Amino acid sequence: MSYNLLKGKRGIIFGALDENSIAWKTAERIHKEGGTFVLTNAPIALRMGQIKELAEKTNSEVIPADATNLEDLNNLVEKSMEILGGKLDFVLHSIGMSVNVRKGNHYTNQNYDYTHKGWDISAVSFHKTMQTLYQKDAMNEWGSIVALTYMAAQRVFPDYNDMADNKAYLESIARSFGYFFGKDKKVRVNTISQSPTPTTAGQGVKGFDGFISYAEKMSPLGNATAEDCANYTIAMFSDLTKRVTLQNLYNDGGFSNMGVSDEVIKAFEHE
Ligand SMILES: NC(=O)c1ccc[n+]([C@@H]2O[C@H](COP(=O)([O-])OP(=O)(O)OC[C@H]3O[C@@H](n4cnc5c(N)ncnc54)[C@H](O)[C@@H]3O)[C@@H](O)[C@H]2O)c1
Repeated sequence: MSYNLLKGKRGIIFGALDENSIAWKTAERIHKEGGTFVLTNAPIALRMGQIKELAEKTNSEVIPADATNLEDLNNLVEKSMEILGGKLDFVLHSIGMSVNVRKGNHYTNQNYDYTHKGWDISAVSFHKTMQTLYQKDAMNEWGSIVALTYMAAQRVFPDYNDMADNKAYLESIARSFGYFFGKDKKVRVNTISQSPTPTTAGQGVKGFDGFISYAEKMSPLGNATAEDCANYTIAMFSDLTKRVTLQNLYNDGGFSNMGVSDEVIKAFEHE
């Protein structure tokens, strides 16, 4: 299905690692809607991942950038405008990583060098990306910037570890920078809070399998898939959402407003 929603629009997509990645599905969807873009990821992910395949499929170029490195971001934004032939209309930040989670450190036993690194990658990189775009005046008026987040920023999910804090920080950056981007450049900035999704980053969270089933049973519409997230994101990049900004938008089948569901009660009835 295509509505030509993004015809003539140009952008940058961060974070497509493999075909399960939310950014991968979003890139495919944007391509279908007529948008053009540059794909980017950290140099190491480019070596490991399959991004070339996506680039061929969507007729796009790949520019390596570590999203914590300002030189890389400067180069990325400049080259993207050259390749795409003008300023940008959309940017997707789909990046997350906790070194503590990866190394199996419990929330109550963090290595703070890891904490700092995970915070830089998962949260501050969003500020760095927006600051680079802002200072280079790289966004067209009525452009749209989206970052992906998770509800552990608002509520306790013990195994989400320090990523919960990183997401809270990320969502705050969206509001704070969104103010200046809106006032000065007429660009909107939002975060999409997505259901648990079976990707490399998602499956890194301890107990993910049990948790994704629980969320499915708690949500009246079931978990939102990566494809659902891609669809929501193209709506946010289109001209149909021009004055939606500074928001944290839940794409979670209703999970975030649930207390308990019949299915979950049933599972405990004979306790
Ligand atoms: N999967 C879930 O359950 C879920 C739920 C809600 C939100 N999210 C968020 O969605 C986003 C995308 O994750 P995903 O689930 O598609 O997993 P993914 O593992 O496919 O994507 C994460 C991406 O971050 C990239 N990355 C890591 N370090 C980087 C760096 N220094 N510079 C540039 N890129 C770097 C990785 O290479 C990878 O492409 C993340 O922000 C994640 O937290 C995921």
